[in-house]
Amino acid sequence: MAMAAAAAASSSYLSNASAILLYAALFLAGAHAEPDPTQVATTSQVPSILPVCKTVGGGSTFFDVQFCLEALGSDGRSANAGANYGACSVIAADLLTANATSTADKIDGLLRERAGKDDDEATTTTRCLRACRALYGGVVRGQPGCAAAVRGRRSGEATRCLERAASAAEECEEGFRKSKVASPVTMENDDAFKLAKLAVALLSWAH
Ligand SMILES: *[C@@H]1O[C@H](CO)[C@@H](O)[C@H](O)[C@H]1NC(C)=O
Repeated sequence: MAMAAAAAASSSYLSNASAILLYAALFLAGAHAEPDPTQVATTSQVPSILPVCKTVGGGSTFFDVQFCLEALGSDGRSANAGANYGACSVIAADLLTANATSTADKIDGLLRERAGKDDDEATTTTRCLRACRALYGGVVRGQPGCAAAVRGRRSGEATRCLERAASAAEECEEGFRKSKVASPVTMENDDAFKLAKLAVALLSWAH
């Protein structure tokens, strides 16, 4: 299109004025064809969950709007969850299940790698990892019942088990901190903690 315009503009059949008009017409046509980037972001990529995430993320000290958008946005079901806080809470609880399961697996792998390492720091790290494995084992065992409580909107029971999951993630991280060794699962603990808190917040808005 630009080449055609340039060719047309340099043609001796066109006066300068009509060349300018042609450019203007092409420019306007092009501008109209461009999608508005702000509209794409708010209406097709993160359609229904934005208001929900603004509400729960804006009012939380545990996670922000961005975390909520990324977490819920990673699950295809959120496209149809609309402003349904209960449905969003179910999604967050399911994400927590997947997270806790993969974290438990990761810790199993780390423990296998560590077998045989026995200097002081390795022993301390191994001990912390075992404690974390037990904590995440509890979360994984509790999650089917917990997610069912979220689905059934049994708020008291659901909130208690989600808070237990958040505490387990915190306790795992705290173990490393107290023992003064680096945590290999900081990111996982952070995600699990925030997902549990997100599910609690969403549930508290579901009526
Ligand atoms: C855990 O949750 C975080 C936050 O939603 C996400 O970025 C990450 O991909 C999840 N990991 C797994 C294994 O589900």
